[in-house]
Amino acid sequence: MNKEILNIRNDFPVLRNNPNVVYLDSAATSLKPDCVINKINEYYTQYGVNVNRGVYKLSYTATEEYEETRQIVKEFLNAKEIEEIVYTKGASNGLNMLALSLRETLKEGDEVVSTILEHHSSILPWQENCKIKNAKLVYTDIDKDGSVDLESFKKVINEKTRYVVVTYVSNVMGQILPIKEIVHIAHQYNALVIVDAAQAVPHLKVDVQDLDCDFLCFSAHKMLGPTGFGILYGKKKYLNKLKPLEYGGDMIDEVELYDNTTKDTPYKFETGTPPISEAIAFKEAIKYLNNIGFEKIEKHVEELTKYTLDKLDNLEGLTIYNKKSALKSGIITFNIRGVHPHDVSTIFDERDICLRAGHHCAQLITKHLGVVGTLRASIYIYNTYEDMDKFIDAVKVACDYFKDW
Ligand code: ALA
Repeated sequence: MNKEILNIRNDFPVLRNNPNVVYLDSAATSLKPDCVINKINEYYTQYGVNVNRGVYKLSYTATEEYEETRQIVKEFLNAKEIEEIVYTKGASNGLNMLALSLRETLKEGDEVVSTILEHHSSILPWQENCKIKNAKLVYTDIDKDGSVDLESFKKVINEKTRYVVVTYVSNVMGQILPIKEIVHIAHQYNALVIVDAAQAVPHLKVDVQDLDCDFLCFSAHKMLGPTGFGILYGKKKYLNKLKPLEYGGDMIDEVELYDNTTKDTPYKFETGTPPISEAIAFKEAIKYLNNIGFEKIEKHVEELTKYTLDKLDNLEGLTIYNKKSALKSGIITFNIRGVHPHDVSTIFDERDICLRAGHHCAQLITKHLGVVGTLRASIYIYNTYEDMDKFIDAVKVACDYFKDW
């Protein structure tokens, strides 16, 4: 095993405590390194008090740690201003928050452009918005292999388009969408672009100024950070215009008997006691990934994915749905002889291989593939050639086992 990967694996207690486990479900959630877990522990044991409220030293320390993450996220995304970084409970929460806040800006006849690659968190809130406001949800074309190109966006974005809601990396197909170019087209028609970057941030260097997207959401937990925490990035001029969805402590400026004024972005969106330890520990995940470097992460994931695809090539009974788009995202989506993926998954589980089976919260693309669900192996920084060999063997066993079904 490559020494660097061995060192990386040693940073992950779940791998240390389960040496036989082959973890190939990082697209569902990544494992967490010691530095993140230790930081959560540090918060609860050293200064575990509330933030932005206490007028005493422990609270100042907690608040400093909590706000330091905002600065690190700003740098991570290359956002222009700190006020553009809103803390959320995750990608789903951010995407829903945005859709609800923007609902009032939609009017009858407006169009919202999206794709059938979307995760339910991205598309369902806009289905609701369009139903309620009599706006039209317009899907781009998709080819039979499940990939969406720039031309298909050009065909449907026009003067009626108000919003383009699009995933950066599909959690089923692994396809990386050309966000920068999509944004360029949308902006020619004054449409705003909302990016679901949940599967992008663990793998790609995301630069919001370069993409020029208007909003972008992601979770911490798919990029080595804690669960229950995420980021909504938005251009300041738009965040300033949005109304908060939740009212309560900390987001308020002045309260009178019948009215109130709120703080500016980002604080007007962050009411109540937030996920403090999660926010504080998230910066350790970013530092850890930056320390490895995204070039190295991409290279490692690509090498392992290519190795696996080569070994599985033309295996009888195996259908891989995304050979073309798997490489950069490390997502391999497959089925075996039309057998229900849940039936196949026991073969992997018996061998301590963790992967996901089902529709992956993206039924539209699963239906497009003509199946009820798929198996999905997702590769990340701590995976090794040995992991992939065990996975390849299990796929061969499964193909053989089900050959007479
Ligand atoms: N959205 C996550 C996945 O793709 C949970 O598995």
